[in-house]
Amino acid sequence: MVNIVFIEPTGAKMPVNINEGWSLMQGATTGGVDGILGECGGSCACATCHCYVDESRLGELPEASESELEMLENVAAERRSNSRLACQIKAVNALDGLIVTLPDTQE
Ligand code: FES
Repeated sequence: MVNIVFIEPTGAKMPVNINEGWSLMQGATTGGVDGILGECGGSCACATCHCYVDESRLGELPEASESELEMLENVAAERRSNSRLACQIKAVNALDGLIVTLPDTQE
């Protein structure tokens, strides 16, 4: 299990243990985290799993694919330098303890 700490739009901290290999979106939606939708089920087609990854650990993540970068142009909230799509980030042990902040809106 990989522990990811989601910060909901209200500022509430929601630590979730995610099965290794699952996406952060799967883990958050299954774990009842508010502020993330994942409407397309993780196929990089909706941008409703937008999140802000802890800047200091951004370099530990695989780079965003072309399709993720394209979808990031469609996010509802402000896009920032640490914006990613949670369905495109796999939970791996190296990311244990990662802080992921969810935006005010996904639609
Ligand atoms: S769940 Fe649709 S783009 Fe991530």
